[in-house]
Amino acid sequence: VETLDLLRSAVGDLEPDNKLALPKLALVPTMGALHEGHLTLVREAKKMAQNVAVSIFVNPTQFGPNEDLDAYPRPRDNDIALLKKEGVDILWAPRVEEVYRKGWATRVKMTGLSDEHDGAARPGHFDGVALIVAKLFNQVQPNIALFGEKDFQQLAVIRRMAIDLDFNIEIIGVPTVRDADGLALSSRNTYLSKDERANAPALYAALQQLRTDILSGANIAKAIEKAKLSVKSSGFGAIDYISVIDAMTLHHLNIKQDAPMRIIAAAFMGKTRLIDNIGV
Ligand code: PAJ
Repeated sequence: VETLDLLRSAVGDLEPDNKLALPKLALVPTMGALHEGHLTLVREAKKMAQNVAVSIFVNPTQFGPNEDLDAYPRPRDNDIALLKKEGVDILWAPRVEEVYRKGWATRVKMTGLSDEHDGAARPGHFDGVALIVAKLFNQVQPNIALFGEKDFQQLAVIRRMAIDLDFNIEIIGVPTVRDADGLALSSRNTYLSKDERANAPALYAALQQLRTDILSGANIAKAIEKAKLSVKSSGFGAIDYISVIDAMTLHHLNIKQDAPMRIIAAAFMGKTRLIDNIGV
């Protein structure tokens, strides 16, 4: 469905089976160019709710002026076929004018969790994400919504936004799906040349080595420098960050802690910006 009117009647037509303990509706928001990562979210959603809605919307407000909004892949027919195969109940795929209507003037401004890491590298990005996800929540009105841990800071920002704006929606995080060589699946992987694709798993490998180093008591700052060198020597260009953070506050850590830690990274392979993260 492509218009709000049709979406609302499609959601209204879903008949909940009150005998089932499962919540009525799950939402999986995406920007399309679907891969096994997205489809894993859909399969998890199917297990967790009676009905599943997927949204496909390449959201202009989360792209910076020099980012890849226009180039972002939009293989619409293939996406639709994939979702049909998964047995998705509703595909919400509005056009930009249906979402950002003439005269729109409302923004969502995130603070705190969004300040560092990707938020610092991509100013305004998480405000755009929070705005579109808040709008999708209001449009679809799901009981639960699923997001990938692949975008770790995004997941934290959305959890916070849902609490702060009083959405009665449970946010579910799903572990990162990877190719056999370890590269995290991403719609942006299609930008990579053959050589770049061959070198790209070095990012995940460096994060795993960094985790091993931290767990064996290495100095965190030194271990991060080592990881950066190994990423650079594997063909990556600029590194936006490789950081060790507290998994809840997302604050930088200089020393190992008992509470959950996360290693997060963003680096350029050619012109393609790749991100990844792992738990410690
Ligand atoms: P997109 O990049 O299309 O991702 C949609 C969802 O799929 C996100 O929750 C993302 O974390 C998850 N995902 C992507 N790759 C994954 C992988 N390899 N393993 C597991 N999950 C993965 O993230 C966005 O779109 C947008 O910012 C959005 C939330 C839709 C707002 O516009």
